[in-house]
Amino acid sequence: MNKYVIMRARLTDVPDIARLFTESFMDSVLHHCGGRLPKPQAMQDVFTLVYQAEPSAALLAKNQAGEVLGYCFAPVIVSRLWWQALIDGHLMKWAWRWLTGQYGFGLNPVKIIVLNKLAFLRSAATPGKAASARILSIAVAPSARGQGIASALMAEADKYFKDNKVQRVRLEVRPDNHPAIRVYEKLGYYPGGTTYDSQGPWLIMFKEISGNGVTIP
Ligand SMILES: CC(C)(COP(=O)(O)OP(=O)(O)OC[C@H]1O[C@@H](n2cnc3c(N)ncnc32)[C@H](O)[C@@H]1OP(=O)(O)O)[C@@H](O)C(=O)NCCC(=O)NCCS
Repeated sequence: MNKYVIMRARLTDVPDIARLFTESFMDSVLHHCGGRLPKPQAMQDVFTLVYQAEPSAALLAKNQAGEVLGYCFAPVIVSRLWWQALIDGHLMKWAWRWLTGQYGFGLNPVKIIVLNKLAFLRSAATPGKAASARILSIAVAPSARGQGIASALMAEADKYFKDNKVQRVRLEVRPDNHPAIRVYEKLGYYPGGTTYDSQGPWLIMFKEISGNGVTIP
């Protein structure tokens, strides 16, 4: 049984988060990157952007040794990601690193990633399916699963949403991801439709938030 604390992530935690993401979503990473793992820099750059767009939305579970056991990104305004990407030069940096081979994948993965993102954007803009707050990504290290860490991260995300007067949160989950759906249902998320990308269907889930919470420092 791992003892853990929930806390805000720092920029220096991004490499650990990127590693945990790659480990937890291996099938999806391989699908998007043409069957090969990208270089670690690629995922680190993605999560640097996600972190910098809304640092207080980045939650971590760490054990006593300071190891990252789980993370959750719960932005209140997901569109900040695009502004951050443009204003802070992330897109230029990505293009340069990709062109100079620092990501370790070619053109096809870029096409798949862009098409999938566009499908998500279309779905998120559909009337009745919109919500500016999101559970963007959540994962727990395989050795630490089944101990309530994801539930604790999601509960902390709820406090953050309440503090920020969020009314509705959206997330997407693969319909066969039963452990994740169990966590979401337990915390009050309900199914609200389906969307698709090149890997198959996503179940869209929503939660209506009410009341105020207390945020961790
Ligand atoms: C989904 C994930 C984040 C859950 O993390 P966790 O810390 O193990 O979650 P918790 O311990 O808080 O809760 C897990 C729940 O799922 C249940 N569960 C586990 N395996 C299950 C299964 N095969 N079917 C149904 N429920 C299952 C557990 O019993 C528990 O519910 P309970 O509290 O009512 O007993 C973790 O499995 C993970 O990182 N998966 C890979 C990444 C991922 O899929 N992220 C979600 C993407 S949308």
